[in-house]
Amino acid sequence: MENILNIGIIGVGNIGSAHASSIYRSDVPHMKLCALCDNDSERLKKIRAAFPDVPCYSCASELIESGSVQAVIIATPHPAHPPIAKLAFESGLHVLTEKPAGIDCKSVRGMMEAAKKSGKLFGVMFNQRASNLFRAAYDIVHTGGLGELRRVVWIITNWYRKQAYYDSGDWRASFGGEGGGVLINQAPHNLDLWQWICGMPKSIFAKCEVGKYHDIEVEDEATIFAQYENGANAVFITTTGEYPGTNRLEISGTKGKLVIENNKLVHTSISVDEREFRYTEEQFKNSEQKTEIEGVRYNGHTLIFENFARAVLFGEELIASGYEAVNELTLSNAAYLSSWTGKEITLPMDDELFARAIAERAKNSRYTSKVTRESEIIVAYKDKWNTSWS
Ligand SMILES: NC(=O)c1ccc[n+]([C@@H]2O[C@H](COP(=O)([O-])OP(=O)(O)OC[C@H]3O[C@@H](n4cnc5c(N)ncnc54)[C@H](O)[C@@H]3O)[C@@H](O)[C@H]2O)c1
Repeated sequence: MENILNIGIIGVGNIGSAHASSIYRSDVPHMKLCALCDNDSERLKKIRAAFPDVPCYSCASELIESGSVQAVIIATPHPAHPPIAKLAFESGLHVLTEKPAGIDCKSVRGMMEAAKKSGKLFGVMFNQRASNLFRAAYDIVHTGGLGELRRVVWIITNWYRKQAYYDSGDWRASFGGEGGGVLINQAPHNLDLWQWICGMPKSIFAKCEVGKYHDIEVEDEATIFAQYENGANAVFITTTGEYPGTNRLEISGTKGKLVIENNKLVHTSISVDEREFRYTEEQFKNSEQKTEIEGVRYNGHTLIFENFARAVLFGEELIASGYEAVNELTLSNAAYLSSWTGKEITLPMDDELFARAIAERAKNSRYTSKVTRESEIIVAYKDKWNTSWS
């Protein structure tokens, strides 16, 4: 059919099988599941049984070269995203990669070059961009509703994970296997939203704490201090070890502030910009106006898929372009480099320097994951993987 995008999924583990299930049962109006690939033979048996009429492959290049799809979704462990995406672009396919696009900016820039050369679409699964609250925050900031940026504070500590999570895959929790911890696995959504809404800071200073709560080789807590060109500061705190956690984003500007917490956005605007008000003769009174927006329940994954399909088929603008994926990765790469060197990192950072540093860590990795759980085909991804407001 002309108005349907034929899609293949490469990497059919936890999230890949959830994506396969939702596209298979037609949750995404303009996508059809036409091929699946996983390089684990045991896993492939389960996939064949769950999706009997969908052709399955054991190697990404076989699926890519099969001629059965126009686009691929990549849902393998993160270090494999860039080489598979490059191959797909070189074979004339559109690519929607899971987040993070890769583990270092250098390889993601390689994906961007391949995408540009191919002329095909490059999307990334930043599903939280589909939230009406973050969209509203983006609109308020980008239309000048907060005035000039003063401060950003994001406490995002509700990414709680148990040890069993880290033990659920041999690639998890090591520099060799996944290239980092909470900053590279869970927080990319928030790092992306932060830069999407507020723009990129000029410098990063961070402390990334390795194995603070879990028996792992990578950080399960990170605190980032960032500074913007105009002097505005930002603090970003994340962990997988705190329970109950918090998800509170506060953005302050010269014309007011907005807070997103507990599935609600509260925008408080003031009548006179603080920079003007500061020098007025009047009493200390600046009239405040409050606007509240409730969060609407959403399935970010299917919304991003439908948007991607519509972008390919009808030229709709991508909600999350792969070309922007390098920004959140710049923030996490700089945070690691800062933590490893004890220095403040000025952006744009030296991608080559970071690529060498992470390769060195991967080479010296001594961590072996204790895989204790057999993975199942996920029919519907749990809500807790969406924005959780607890
Ligand atoms: N956007 C989201 O909400 C979200 C949620 C979970 C995971 N993710 C991302 O999805 C990716 C996968 O995570 P997961 O939890 O599903 O991992 P997983 O280990 O459950 O699944 C990965 C699958 O990829 C397969 N695989 C590995 N290398 C491959 C290769 N070269 N070719 C083909 N198959 C290969 C593995 O056998 C496995 O079945 C990660 O990058 C993760 O960050 C995103």
